[in-house]
Amino acid sequence: MSEVNLNQLIKLLPKAELHLHIEGTLEPQLMWDLAQKHCITLPFSSVKAIQEAYHFDSLQSFLDLYYQGADVLRDEDDFFALMWAYLCKCHEQNVVHTEIMFDPQTHTERGIDYAVFMAGFERAINKAKKEFDMSVYLILSFLRHLSEQEAIDTLQQAKPYYSMITAVGLDSSELGNPPSKFQRVFSLAKAEGFKLVAHAGEEGPPEYVWEAINLLNVDRIDHGVRSSEDPSLMAYLKQHQIPLTVCPLSNLKLCVVDDLSQHNIHDLLNDGLHVTINSDDPSYFGGYLNENFIAVAEKLPLTEQDIINLASNSISASFLPLERKQHLIECIKVVASKTSTGEYNACEQRTNEY
Ligand code: HPA
Ligand code: ZN
Repeated sequence: MSEVNLNQLIKLLPKAELHLHIEGTLEPQLMWDLAQKHCITLPFSSVKAIQEAYHFDSLQSFLDLYYQGADVLRDEDDFFALMWAYLCKCHEQNVVHTEIMFDPQTHTERGIDYAVFMAGFERAINKAKKEFDMSVYLILSFLRHLSEQEAIDTLQQAKPYYSMITAVGLDSSELGNPPSKFQRVFSLAKAEGFKLVAHAGEEGPPEYVWEAINLLNVDRIDHGVRSSEDPSLMAYLKQHQIPLTVCPLSNLKLCVVDDLSQHNIHDLLNDGLHVTINSDDPSYFGGYLNENFIAVAEKLPLTEQDIINLASNSISASFLPLERKQHLIECIKVVASKTSTGEYNACEQRTNEY
């Protein structure tokens, strides 16, 4: 398939996104508008200046800006606007299911209560479910630079909203904050019936991926790209088909890799691991889901079948019920065959069919 046709296939395929931080979808224009609305003085003189500040040399250099940016989110309408903008983007890109991380502590630490952000999220999610016929799950993520007791308190405060939440996760500064620090809170979350995910092996070593598996009992690993440094871990991930939610443009922007041509996602896929592509923090890293697929396809020798497998993996690695997984994988096959026979053209937008 030519590059143009591969890009067309990427755009038309129904897909799921499994690694996305809602706070990382805050576009510079919305940050600017909300700062004006709440009379907040930003350390930037224009929307363009915000964009130009997005150069990072590590995860921490990004997180400093990401937490500062989130400070403009103050009332329910702000959280609605943030979530709605992302869900519209999903619809535009044929993302038919998404599992969205949110960081309660980023907001509760600033005095903004669960009631404020959950109400905004809920309104946007209900609107998208109705208008776009998509499925949307939420993942409550603990900030790992804070203590385990604070994570436990955060889980307890979420109690009135448990029915809106599918899983818990672990994000923020990885180095020096291993999964072992959060064993108790993950076991409490499991007892409540939540699915479990954790960032591991982004900047941290393969031992952190082992800890996430053996001590936290996670269902998926977020990132996990450093797993390739440990052959026994690779064998384990393959044998148990533990999904890795890989984020190529994030890895590039945070200098986990120097160039996407050196990214190991194609090798991980060829080695039989359950790999998916995701956007992580698209506003900060220069692309939503389709742009991540396209960037990888430009730099690595991915085939049409690789793209189809990555889309199918995104569905099978999700927390959706089996029936919807089977339905969406069937839809992927139909779109793939129609695209390869030219029944869909480049301009076609597929909507509301899933
Ligand atoms: N890694 C860790 N924490 C994060 C990230 C990430 O890529 N994005 C938002 N919080
Ligand atoms: Zn992430």
